[in-house]
Amino acid sequence: SKPKPWVIGNWKMNPETPMAQQQLTQQLIDQIIHDPASDMGATTLNLAVAPTFLHLLMVQQQLQQAKSPVQVVAQDVSRFAGTGAYTGDVSAQLLASAGITITLIGHSERRSLYAEGAVVLREKLQAAVKAGLDIVFCIGETLSEREAGQAEQVVLQQIAEVFDSVSLQDWQQHLIIAYEPVWAIGTGKTASPDDAESMHAAIRTGLKKYHPSLVDVPILYGGSVKPDNAASLAACANINGALVGGASLDAGSFIKIAQAFS
Ligand code: G3H
Repeated sequence: SKPKPWVIGNWKMNPETPMAQQQLTQQLIDQIIHDPASDMGATTLNLAVAPTFLHLLMVQQQLQQAKSPVQVVAQDVSRFAGTGAYTGDVSAQLLASAGITITLIGHSERRSLYAEGAVVLREKLQAAVKAGLDIVFCIGETLSEREAGQAEQVVLQQIAEVFDSVSLQDWQQHLIIAYEPVWAIGTGKTASPDDAESMHAAIRTGLKKYHPSLVDVPILYGGSVKPDNAASLAACANINGALVGGASLDAGSFIKIAQAFS
């Protein structure tokens, strides 16, 4: 059985003002209510957006007051658990105590722009599971790695280097994988459905080797997902949803993508 799909809009460091954040949120609320046939977020789809830390609770409140099925996701989490003297950081425990139940970890921008590697990512995974968060763990190869024929090896290594930082039970219950080829992020180039599907199948096979029960870990695709390519990605057997950047900043586009996966 295919796991229930996820469509997550990663707003990154956008939009610019609180009002623009509220407007985008309101558009999601309105357009989903106006499309009752799709039943999005209730039974067929997990639908979520990831605003900045600055706007996370405001967006969450707005969605909850409107009884919207859209959930909120943190874009990142501190490597340090609990509370304490960590200026500028937000811990998993602070997120959990504010009703945020899920976070991204290891997005390619964190890996490349902030030099986050296995040591940090293992600590972040541990901090997140300790606080009971669900985690979208992001992996993906660069263009040069793909051209060198190493895409699969790189991606499986990104799982291997963190795998034992959390328990098998955490993997079964709290982990979602997002495969995002770095060369497809923000570039308008999407992996072809065949390339994406073959990588997703390889990831699933890799997970099953750790334990057969990991066959059900949702594996999302990210990298220039747009309304016009969402359906062909959604049709792939091993693609269980999408992590959407640019197109999630337009409510109409984001909802079309969500519909393709619901
Ligand atoms: O987290 C989302 C990904 O980085 C994809 O971004 O849809 O703008 O390519 P994009």
